[in-house]
Amino acid sequence: MRPKLVVGNWKMNGSRVANATLLTGILEGLDNAKAAVAVCVPAPYLFQAEEILKGSPVAWGAQDVSCHPVGAYTGEVCMTMLQDFGSRYVIVGHSERRAYHGETNELVAKKTGAALAAGLTPIVCVGETLVQREAGQTMAVVNAQLDAVLEAIGAQAIDKIVLAYEPVWAIGTGKTATPAMAQEVHAALREKLRACNAEAAENTLVLYGGSMKPDNAADLMAQPDIDGGLIGGAALKAEDFLGIIRAAS
Ligand code: 13P
Repeated sequence: MRPKLVVGNWKMNGSRVANATLLTGILEGLDNAKAAVAVCVPAPYLFQAEEILKGSPVAWGAQDVSCHPVGAYTGEVCMTMLQDFGSRYVIVGHSERRAYHGETNELVAKKTGAALAAGLTPIVCVGETLVQREAGQTMAVVNAQLDAVLEAIGAQAIDKIVLAYEPVWAIGTGKTATPAMAQEVHAALREKLRACNAEAAENTLVLYGGSMKPDNAADLMAQPDIDGGLIGGAALKAEDFLGIIRAAS
């Protein structure tokens, strides 16, 4: 059986004071959670995350990374910088990066490959917009997003990534996909992974993201192909995040 993984994506939120309160609150309330837990923090706070979380069961990572190893890329952050602060995960291809920063499937695929090469675990986001869903294009969109990644990383590496299905219309809107709707896409994604590498596909974690909260998390994560959550808003309050971790355990 695949283990559950709950990841907080803080997005562009936080301050030294707020982060310390949030992270110590999470650590204090973690008890014996069975799910694996991680937080993806804004890059300037990786140092603080490492200081507070080192030696704890909570892993940490970043929300984006450059596909370039080093050099003249003003404003960018590279893999070795994430590693310098003990990062384990990096989110790539979040819909907010795709929408506001023009990230293409090809760039996301490149970042995924570079993260793997650096020994980080990329959390690769795929998902359709409302317009695309209503036009019946959901699977075409997520398949194209996943295809680019699979082509870049190869069949052997598919269980080295974490996949996250995040319907764009469910992000930050309070409109969650129903467990059945999410499961349908998750199952199709896993089928695609199976076609690539049947054995590894059983081990690839596929998270759901989009308005996951303590009160809907258990039903979503009870679905056979939903292996955890990528949490935005509810990851910013220790009690809510812990509620989701408990639901996953
Ligand atoms: P919300 O949980 O705020 O909907 O955000 C989901 C998300 O985008 C996580 O990456």
